[in-house]
Amino acid sequence: MFSAGIMTISDKGSRGEREDKSGSAIREMLVQQGHSVIRYEILPDERVVISTELKHWVEDGDVDVIFTTGGTGLSERDVTPEATLSVVEKVVPGLAEAMRIKSLEKTPMAMLSRAVAGVRGKCLIINLPGSPRAVRECLEVVLPAVQHAVEIIKGEVTEHTEG
Ligand code: MTE
Repeated sequence: MFSAGIMTISDKGSRGEREDKSGSAIREMLVQQGHSVIRYEILPDERVVISTELKHWVEDGDVDVIFTTGGTGLSERDVTPEATLSVVEKVVPGLAEAMRIKSLEKTPMAMLSRAVAGVRGKCLIINLPGSPRAVRECLEVVLPAVQHAVEIIKGEVTEHTEG
């Protein structure tokens, strides 16, 4: 089981003008599967604010995975992927590719998420889109691979699990 941080990216949420249903959806799914959520924050759609906080969380070293939600689309204020790419040392394209491929079976709008994932230090950072529905659909896709990813990143396994 891994320890996670949830970073909700929303201008309105950060001003207290919108309830963070997506952050709650992430927490619910993670806890249901036995993972612990030990950090949570709502930030505005500001690239430097997001990247600075991602770096702090990784430096503190207490979360194995950071899930961001929101800011992955095409509007002018959507900068979560850029903030994430500016801090990761390794991009993990397969996680975002899988989310988009599986989500396309549910909605063509899945094409509009520019979500990325990557590794900084010993931490995996995964962007999720902003709606509670999208969060649930995307987490369902990536969660089966996240535990193994965490173990590899932390150097706990070097062998392949299958085959
Ligand atoms: N992915 C899934 N699985 N389900 C969804 O409902 N919504 C899409 C897309 N990805 C969606 C999804 C929509 S409508 C948009 S605009 C983009 O994610 C970006 O969302 P964001 O800007 O809130 O991050």
